[in-house]
Amino acid sequence: PLVSMKEMLEKAKAENYAVGQFNLNNLEFTQAILKAAQEENSPVILGVSEGAARYMGGFKLTVAMVKALMEEYKVTVPVAIHLDHGSSFQKCAEAIHAGFTSVMIDGSHHPLEENIELTKKVVELAHIHGVSVEAELGRIGGQEDDLVVDDAEAAYAVPSECDQLVRETGVDCFAPALGSVHGPYKGEPNLGFDRMKEVMELTGVPLVLHGGTGIPTKDIQKAISLGTAKINVNTENQISSQKAVKEYISANPDQYDPRKYLTAARDAIQTTVQGKMREFGSSNKA
Ligand code: G3H
Ligand code: ZN
Repeated sequence: PLVSMKEMLEKAKAENYAVGQFNLNNLEFTQAILKAAQEENSPVILGVSEGAARYMGGFKLTVAMVKALMEEYKVTVPVAIHLDHGSSFQKCAEAIHAGFTSVMIDGSHHPLEENIELTKKVVELAHIHGVSVEAELGRIGGQEDDLVVDDAEAAYAVPSECDQLVRETGVDCFAPALGSVHGPYKGEPNLGFDRMKEVMELTGVPLVLHGGTGIPTKDIQKAISLGTAKINVNTENQISSQKAVKEYISANPDQYDPRKYLTAARDAIQTTVQGKMREFGSSNKA
């Protein structure tokens, strides 16, 4: 069923695993991720950025596509459809009214007080509709769609501010930027685990780790042990699908039917997602 992230993440935190957020880019990503979740008997969060929603034809079309595929595949595992890095109250409201079950309001580029005001407003609306909310503090480096943060701007979240934001807004989960990066890492990631522990102890809410692509398994496990209950992955699926298409086309240079090379892409995404679900410990937790 289509549900919010709330129970999913509370269960994950209590039982020491993380639910993956896998971003949708098109029909094939959606098919692959839903199939992977059902196959692994795992809860799943479908992340939709504003850019991806635009590409796919809008929030309503995205919700309709997800619902129709869930029916077609007889999906029984919990699925959340979540606005990733929502940029404004307006966009969050639009997603909620289109049927999203969860939203992120990314006010991390605003001063603390403004971030809190904005997040509070989104929580108020979302909770009326049974929709869960994720907020962010600090700045996650790298690039995802419209969101570009260069190295100098990237900043670690301050634990006391995290505590204040979570307390004053009533968010369901929280993403403290602690050195993770959108897109591939330049070298090894350097995650702020001491701060992560502090944020967990202060806030008590399930934590979210963005930039899941390229984080070594030992760091994933450490983050889960420190209260991380949601891990976002996008680039890794994009890379594995691109690799599959390249291989397919170089082996079959005359094949122009997109259903052929996109089948290769879809299979690669499903395999990658199932691997992540096992790594995050969410398999058989539906
Ligand atoms: O919000 C989405 C994620 O944080 C994706 O990060 O593309 O580095 O896996 P990634
Ligand atoms: Zn992110």
